[in-house]
Amino acid sequence: MSITVILGTQWGDEGKGKVVDYYADQAEYVVRFQGGNNAGHTIKVGREEYKLHVIPSGVIQGKIGVIGNGVVIDPSVLLEEITSLTQRGITPKLMISDRAHLIMPYHKLLDGIEETSRGSQKIGTTKRGIGPCYSDKIARRGIRVGDLKDPHRLEQLLDQILPEKQTLLKTYGINETLDKKTILNELLDYSSKLAPYIKETHLALHAAIQQKKQILYEGAQGTMLDVDFGTYPYTTSSHVIAGGACIGTGIGPRHIGDIIGIVKAYTTRVGKGPFPTELTDAVGKHLQQQGKEIGTTTSRTRRCGWLDLVVVNHSCILSGITKLALTKVDVLTGLKTIKICTEYKLNGKTITSLPANIDDFQKCTPIYTELPGWKNLPQKPKTLQDLPNETQQYLSFISKYTKTPIALVSIGPERSETLQC
Ligand code: GDP
Ligand code: IMO
Ligand code: MG
Repeated sequence: MSITVILGTQWGDEGKGKVVDYYADQAEYVVRFQGGNNAGHTIKVGREEYKLHVIPSGVIQGKIGVIGNGVVIDPSVLLEEITSLTQRGITPKLMISDRAHLIMPYHKLLDGIEETSRGSQKIGTTKRGIGPCYSDKIARRGIRVGDLKDPHRLEQLLDQILPEKQTLLKTYGINETLDKKTILNELLDYSSKLAPYIKETHLALHAAIQQKKQILYEGAQGTMLDVDFGTYPYTTSSHVIAGGACIGTGIGPRHIGDIIGIVKAYTTRVGKGPFPTELTDAVGKHLQQQGKEIGTTTSRTRRCGWLDLVVVNHSCILSGITKLALTKVDVLTGLKTIKICTEYKLNGKTITSLPANIDDFQKCTPIYTELPGWKNLPQKPKTLQDLPNETQQYLSFISKYTKTPIALVSIGPERSETLQC
């Protein structure tokens, strides 16, 4: 099978950038299928560290990066990313879907305003315009990357959309003027710079599949931020689960082989919303500090807690995950005992699945299994068997619970700090 999908099983920031970079070695194409520059994926190679928001992580390995139709694109961020990589000696080979939607200046404004208007019910979005852009896509009033090639159509779209957005801003008490000429000129500038990359990417992917090329899909966010199956409404606005890979690139499910779920050895969350295993004690501090849990995109401190296997299992079921990649296992080093959540208590009952109602989820309390910790990890272990027995026990507990084999264990941010199982 040509396509391997890699995605996050928790609330994002599981180490997708690192794992995609590791597997990109064997691939020719690396593809983003959803999300936008709300994502922040870190790749560390020796002393070099790259933080990518829109461009697929595989470009660091010189692979072809495809930005699928399911992605929402802020052209200014994309161009900045291209420039910054080029300055660092990497000229990204890119293809951008003509059907991907553009994040417009008013989307970013509205993201901020909508958050403010939610008061105490804030989602804690990244304020990158993601939600408003996807809303316009579904409401059929979006502007797509392909429209950049047609100035007349662009102008018509702006004539149709801007008055409505201007009224909306006014309703919120915002005085900012959406000047058509300025916005059009900006779009035409992006058009000239992005034109070489704009393609019918679904056709390019189909050709690659026919030629049996290896293709890696790079998920953004994590299952718990999925718009349908996450902690709605405290989610992002896209389909994060494996099904999103088909919709977000125009390929059929039969072309997908392995689906690798990345599991951070503990749990983190950025932004608001329930988090049953959250720790606000010294252990939470340990995870935050040892794991350097600061948001890649917004620099917010990530909330930290024990591993929640109810969440990971939810993800395995929804995406049909075939293998797990365990990351940040090194961060647990030094803890005397380690807890894993295996069930929730809700209204006196024990449950092992996630309630759809957010108020119910908020009420869930974790039931833990406690395992022994480990004092140290060996320097440069070569196989899983080189890890302490307690670490192996922890990993095997996760694999047994989820009935899913572990394919990779990551014990540090660097490409080399990776054990294949
Ligand atoms: P992503 O959004 O899933 O790509 O993850 P982020 O890049 O936002 O956050 C993951 C952070 O953990 C990055 O700073 C990575 O360099 C780092 N990282 C990845 N894997 C490991 C690991 O196994 N151990 C440690 N200590 N850090 C890791
Ligand atoms: P990566 O790909 C962690 C969170 C935001 C907020 C919610 C909605 O790096 O794992 P949005 O701006 O999407 O409308 O925000 O989703 N969020 C992420 N959290 N990692 C991410 O991406 C995220 N992308 C969005 O913090 O709670
Ligand atoms: Mg991230």
